[in-house]
Amino acid sequence: MPVPASSGHRLLRIRNGLLMRIFIQRQRIRARRSTLGGSAVVLALLLTIGAPGAAAQDHAGQYEQANIEFGARLYSANCVRCHGEGGAEIAGVDLSSGTFARAESDPELMQLIRRGIQGTAMPPNDFSRTELTGIVSYLRTMRDVDLSAVTLGDETRGRGLFAGTGACASCHRVRGEGPRTAPDLTDIGAVRTAADLQASLLDPTGSMLPVNRPVRAVLADGTVLNGRRLNEDTYTIQLIDDNERLRSLDKADLRELAAATTSPMPPATDVLDEQGVADVLAYLLSLKGLD
Ligand code: HEC
Ligand code: HEC
Repeated sequence: MPVPASSGHRLLRIRNGLLMRIFIQRQRIRARRSTLGGSAVVLALLLTIGAPGAAAQDHAGQYEQANIEFGARLYSANCVRCHGEGGAEIAGVDLSSGTFARAESDPELMQLIRRGIQGTAMPPNDFSRTELTGIVSYLRTMRDVDLSAVTLGDETRGRGLFAGTGACASCHRVRGEGPRTAPDLTDIGAVRTAADLQASLLDPTGSMLPVNRPVRAVLADGTVLNGRRLNEDTYTIQLIDDNERLRSLDKADLRELAAATTSPMPPATDVLDEQGVADVLAYLLSLKGLD
C-alpha cells in the first residue's frame, strides 16, 4: 500500500506569503529610513512582529517542509494503526487539532511521544531527536497538509533497490560508501523535500541544480577532463574527475571550460517500476546525515 506523504504546496505558499510580507515591510522600512528617521524604523519593526496575520496562527510557517514530510512517514509507520490517517480514531483524542490535552510546548509533546502514557495503550517510543522533530512538525501541521502528491514506498526495499536493480550506488556515495563522481546523498533527505527528490528521480535533467552540472574542461595539451565541480572561484576550479581524482585547475591554463545542461543520470523509471521509485524515494528521505 502506498504511504501518502505531503505535497505541501499550500504550506510553501503560506510561507512565501509571509516572506513576501516581510520583504515588503523591509522595503518600506528602507523608504522610511531616508525620510522619517529612526523612530519610524522601530515602529515598522514592531508592526511586522505584532501583526503577523493568518500565516503565524497557522502553525505552518514554523516547521520545515522536509521535517513535516519525514514526520508524515514516521506517523504512517508508527501511529496510524491506533490514531488513524486523520488522527482522530481514538475517542476524545484528535491529533490533527494541533493542540493537545497532555502537552503544550513542542518539548513536552516530544517527551510524551517518547515516554508514552502509562496506564493507557499509548506506548513509549525509542525515537531519535531528529525523528521526534519530524513527528512533532507533522502533528502540528497535520490538518494543513495535503497527503496526495508524492507516493512513498518501503524504505527497506528502497535501500535494496538503491544498491541493486536501481544501480544508484554505482554513481552515488552514501555514508562513506560508493564513488564520488555523483553528489553524495548521505543527508539528501534532510536538505530536499519529497517532491524535489521525486522530480530528481523522474526527470534528472529537468530538475538538475546548477551546482550539480557536470563540467568538461580541456587542458592546454588537449586532455579532456569530465567531472563534478566541488568549488570554483574567479581564477580556479576544483573538480572530481571521472577517475575520482581531485583536480584543481587554473582557469587561465584551460582551453575550454563548460558545464553540461543534461544530467548523466538516467531517469529512475528506466530501471524501476512505479513501486520501486516509491520505495527508493522512502529510502532517500530517510537519509538525514551521519547521526
Ligand atoms: C497502540 C496504540 C497507540 C499507538 C501505536 C500510538 N498511540 Fe498515541 N495514544 C494512544 C491512546 C489510547 C491515547 C490516549 C491515552 C489517554 O489519554 O487515555 C494516545 C494519546 C496520544 C497523545 C496525547 C493526546 C493529547 O491530546 O494529549 C499523543 C500526542 C499521541 N498519542 C501521539 C502518538 C504518536 C505521535 C504516535 C506514533 C509515534 C502514537 N501516539 C502511537 C494509543 C496509541
Ligand atoms: C550514471 C550515474 C548515476 C546513476 C546510475 C544515478 N545517478 Fe543520481 N545523479 C547522478 C549525477 C551526476 C547527479 C547530479 C546531476 C543531477 O542532478 O542530475 C545526480 C543527481 C541525483 C539526485 C539529486 C541530488 C541533489 O543534490 O538534489 C538524486 C536525489 C539522485 N541523483 C538519486 C539517484 C537515485 C535514487 C538513483 C538510482 C535510482 C540514481 N540517482 C542513479 C548520477 C547518477
